[in-house]
Amino acid sequence: MSVTVETQVIHAEALKKVVGYKAVDDYVRSGMVVGLGTGSTAYYAIQRLGQKLQEGKLFDIVGIPTSTKTERHAKSLGIPLVTLDSHPVVDVAIDGADEVDRRLNLVKGRGGSLLREKLIETEARKLVIIVDDSKLVEGLGMTGAVPVEVIPFCWRHTMRRLLGLECLASCNVSATIRSENENIYVTDNNNYIVDLFLEKPIPDIVLAAQQISEIVGVVEHGLFLNMVDLCIVSGKDGTRVIE
Ligand code: 5RP
Repeated sequence: MSVTVETQVIHAEALKKVVGYKAVDDYVRSGMVVGLGTGSTAYYAIQRLGQKLQEGKLFDIVGIPTSTKTERHAKSLGIPLVTLDSHPVVDVAIDGADEVDRRLNLVKGRGGSLLREKLIETEARKLVIIVDDSKLVEGLGMTGAVPVEVIPFCWRHTMRRLLGLECLASCNVSATIRSENENIYVTDNNNYIVDLFLEKPIPDIVLAAQQISEIVGVVEHGLFLNMVDLCIVSGKDGTRVIE
């Protein structure tokens, strides 16, 4: 790695740490049920939460992890964990995102955890999204995939149905089944992920979200619409909160 690239990586990590720590410091209070997001930015929020619990600066916290990876991380820090079954109301959830638009609509799931993230974050009284400013976009789906979790049974058929959607007809859409080490990637829920790639912005994201959900083999998609209460954004000029 050259010195320049190394410096950029450190800088990117620093931006993630700032927002992760700030989310916990500003929005988590003792006694809360906390939704724990997944990804390299949410990682820092979980670190901070674990640290504050260990230092006695927060107490009576329980966390609800949005993936098995986050579950392992939280357990390693001694964060007590519960599920929505026993704790259906989440006081605050903190998570990263792949893209954030002006209205705080999101693309999530490039890390593969969109189903549990949406399940838990839908129940959050306050959903706090933490990103660096590279995630801010004009139109969703332009910097990478829009992930869709599908059942493995007849996934090629489900993928064809996604490609045939009227609402994506103007987007020059293509699709791949997500893979890992030359095998199909399997989610925490034993499903697959179809990644949709768009060359042009989705004209109506609400309609697209609805039509994608209506396909029978689709379990959930990575368009998170009208869910976010606030977004903490870090950049070279500091940190700001968008509400
Ligand atoms: C995982 C997600 C992540 O929140 C998203 O991929 C952002 O991750 P990172 O903070 O590592 O960029 O949706 O399913």
